[in-house]
Amino acid sequence: MPKLAGKVAIITGAAQGMGAAHARRFVAEGARTVFTDINADAGEKLQAELGDNSLFIRHDVGSEADWQKVTAEAEAHFGPVSVLINNAGIIGPVAKAAELTAEAFETVCRINQTSVFLGTKHTIPSMIRAGGGSIVNISSISGIVAIYGTPNVAYAASKFAVRGITKQVAIEYGEHNIRANSVHPGYIRTPMMTEALDDEGIRIASASVPIKRVGEVEDVSNLVVFLASEESAFITGSEYIIDGGLTAL
Ligand SMILES: NC(=O)c1ccc[n+]([C@@H]2O[C@H](COP(=O)([O-])OP(=O)(O)OC[C@H]3O[C@@H](n4cnc5c(N)ncnc54)[C@H](O)[C@@H]3O)[C@@H](O)[C@H]2O)c1
Repeated sequence: MPKLAGKVAIITGAAQGMGAAHARRFVAEGARTVFTDINADAGEKLQAELGDNSLFIRHDVGSEADWQKVTAEAEAHFGPVSVLINNAGIIGPVAKAAELTAEAFETVCRINQTSVFLGTKHTIPSMIRAGGGSIVNISSISGIVAIYGTPNVAYAASKFAVRGITKQVAIEYGEHNIRANSVHPGYIRTPMMTEALDDEGIRIASASVPIKRVGEVEDVSNLVVFLASEESAFITGSEYIIDGGLTAL
């Protein structure tokens, strides 16, 4: 029995990287899946691969008008939404606090943090019509601890905020059978990582991880499918670190 049969899901930032992996797994697990991204070319290519149980919508997660469009189109196409994966995110400039502009700080927070609020706000009415739902917010280990050597207070602020939004939403909507949990990946091999680290950088990163490798997108999809499914029906307001033991050191 597919784990997500009967679910209608929205996954953001899903034209590449972890989001695309989640979209592939969600369709394979029986979810009717709306996946969104600002990169329309890559999104449409993936739509051709995934077929009729998927729908790609171009979407800037920082735009409230776009969220209204996405949630309305998702429900019109597949019915009330029961799963929301807030995955889209950017790193922003790697600069110490005194060198970071207020504009860059606000851009990172809009895409990584305000987006999670907007997605939650506009999807919850549909989830209530669905009889409940699961929200999975992709934070980072940067939402748990500060990372030495890669300065970026905007990324840290936004990823810590995602954890807080998650817990507050969990307690506000538990009575509607709507759950919210956050996922905190460490090093995961995606375009975001390979743009930041060359092969030598990935080798050094792998050596620093107790499990002695970086994560693959499928490692994270396994966790996200679990949190979206009924197997996690009594889990809400929780945070899941998936980093090969890096932050246990
Ligand atoms: N890769 C890692 O090592 C790692 C570690 C911890 C957390 N994360 C988080 O995981 C999530 C996915 O990261 P990834 O590594 O797959 O990144 P990625 O850069 O490979 O993919 C991110 C996707 O988000 C899209 N996106 C960017 N801005 C957007 C916007 N305004 N609206 C809609 N879509 C937008 C991009 O077009 C891209 O397709 C992010 O939230 C990231 O912060 C990644």
